[in-house]
Amino acid sequence: MVLNQSCIWKKLNHIELAVENSLNGKGEPIPFVPARDIEILIPGQLTPKKGLSSKEGQARLLHDLASIELQAMELGLRTLTEFTDAPEGFRAELAAITLSEAKHLRLCLQGMEKLGFKWGDWAAHTMLWSATAAEDSLLDRVLIVHRYLEGSGLDAGDTLLKRLGGVLDSPLQSISKIILTEEIEHVEFGSRWYRELCKQEKIDPQEDFANRMEALRWRMPKRIEKISRQYRAQAGFTNFELDYLENLRNEICKHQHQPQNH
Ligand SMILES: [Fe+2]
Ligand SMILES: [Fe+2]
Repeated sequence: MVLNQSCIWKKLNHIELAVENSLNGKGEPIPFVPARDIEILIPGQLTPKKGLSSKEGQARLLHDLASIELQAMELGLRTLTEFTDAPEGFRAELAAITLSEAKHLRLCLQGMEKLGFKWGDWAAHTMLWSATAAEDSLLDRVLIVHRYLEGSGLDAGDTLLKRLGGVLDSPLQSISKIILTEEIEHVEFGSRWYRELCKQEKIDPQEDFANRMEALRWRMPKRIEKISRQYRAQAGFTNFELDYLENLRNEICKHQHQPQNH
């Protein structure tokens, strides 16, 4: 049991078996939100972050990353459990990605400990999980999880690596490089299968991207990070898709700067 288990270490210890069970059609029940052993808040209620020049600031960033990796791992398991009829190749690749998220989570937890902090020293959110729903189609799920949420992670990773230029000798440095490299592969999986599934359903992927994004964007976290055209292109995004995401980001930024009391 992983999704309904609150202890983060037990989740990690059970993930391999849970993935195997899901592949065999014996997944656990999908909860409304996965169980947690730390305080859960909405993102706006989380305490402000400290700068990356302090160990506390670095550990907090690893804590935020750990929460993202945990949700990515749980989302992988959720899709494997809910989409037992998905193509076999898709399921095999997603199983490997889910285990790679577990590895990322472990790296973040260990990095935090090296800095003298631990899981639970801060609260976290479950916004990524909440962007998905039981009624999603497989195309919805691939777009939400692997192209939007994980794609946004590439933008954030790009910004982070640039910010880390000045922070030397921190576990954050090596961990974020490993994660970013492997996340490009996860997003590439999403781009490739998104097109393949469109082909199987005889849908034009370019037209579908804009329509599906428009239908789903309202329940996904709003991102204001600069779009990393470089990493996203490596991960299979087309220029049309990149332009769409840049326009969406500009629209969100514009609204955020408007006065609230008009
Ligand atoms: Fe990850
Ligand atoms: Fe990932």
